[in-house]
Amino acid sequence: HPPVSQMEETSLLRRANCRSKGGASGFKVAILGAAGGIGQPLALLMKMNSLVSVLHLYDVVNAPGVTADISHMNTGAVVRGFLGQPQLEDALAGMDLVIIPAGVPRKPGMTRDDLFNINAGIVKTLCEGIVKCCPKAIVNLISNPVNSTVPIAAEVFKKAGTYDSKRLLGVTMLDVVRANTFVAEVLGIDPRDVNVPVVGGHAGVTILPLLSQVNPPCSFTPEEISYLTNRIQNGGTEVVEAKAGAGSATLSMAYAAAKFADACLRGLRGDAGVVECSFVASQVTELPFFASKVRLGRCGVEEVLPLGPLNEFERAGLEKAKKELAVSIQKGVSFIRK
Ligand code: NAD
Ligand code: LMR
Repeated sequence: HPPVSQMEETSLLRRANCRSKGGASGFKVAILGAAGGIGQPLALLMKMNSLVSVLHLYDVVNAPGVTADISHMNTGAVVRGFLGQPQLEDALAGMDLVIIPAGVPRKPGMTRDDLFNINAGIVKTLCEGIVKCCPKAIVNLISNPVNSTVPIAAEVFKKAGTYDSKRLLGVTMLDVVRANTFVAEVLGIDPRDVNVPVVGGHAGVTILPLLSQVNPPCSFTPEEISYLTNRIQNGGTEVVEAKAGAGSATLSMAYAAAKFADACLRGLRGDAGVVECSFVASQVTELPFFASKVRLGRCGVEEVLPLGPLNEFERAGLEKAKKELAVSIQKGVSFIRK
């Protein structure tokens, strides 16, 4: 029905223009991989975020259906769908924040690195689109292996001359969300009252929870430290095994990604004191990328915060994490430089 779709388009444009003229205009956000296990609930949560004025949903399959569905929610954001590579540039034009959960997930028995061969190419293509259409957007990269895909994105941006390390953030928020939940269980308190810094990277031993820096301050027995560290490092595998071949964490990930995106948008708005953990370009260690607490602001990462005092157990964990991270980072860099 062309008249109806014309009418809808006019009304969408009116709403979008109206917002961009207003003082509190909101931000334009794109989700790449929006029809996937993470993408769909993430689209739902971003449609509910009052800081979002325009929401672009891009995927190589099913984007129109997900878009039609989400667009009926009577929240503020105007939703538009984009299907397939020919529509990638329209999906990205003018975006303030691009969230990338595109790519294949693990099955039991696989490591995140086993996803490299497929996901590296997907991330490369999507980042080339960002270079062309929204080089100043903040990028939240979820696709695994994050320890390699973030360096891949950085190399694509460097090659094009658009790289700004403050704007590229690997999403490790799910590790923090899990750590807060598992620590709260052990302490017998509300998980919303717990904040555990998780540093390093996003795979196995590179996931390093700093249990000596939990807020509120608390102490654990050696058995509790061993149990918690193990559970946090293997949280992803716990879900992969429970799903038994049907994929990896999607719902808790969408929750974590929406929380992290909201923090980025609050930073962009100029809110003070927005601090979250993320895998970013870093000088906290000798490695070029590392996850730690970062302060978010109008340009993305305003400050990468130091690790703070580590105990002996954490120092040993840090050495193990760095060894694996160095290899994963180099693998990502070589993929583009080769
Ligand atoms: P999924 O298979 O359910 O969804 C992925 C979506 O990406 C699909 O809809 C697919 O069509 C789409 N896609 C594939 N190629 C694309 C391309 N070139 N452009 C745009 N979209 C494309 O997978 P999922 O469960 O949503 O997981 C997605 C990724 O997120 C996986 O790599 C997974 O390992 C990763 N992940 C990361 C974290 C984290 O903490 N960073 C947590 C969970 C999952
Ligand atoms: C997670 O931590 O849940 C994700 O990285 C997905 C996975 O493969 O474990």
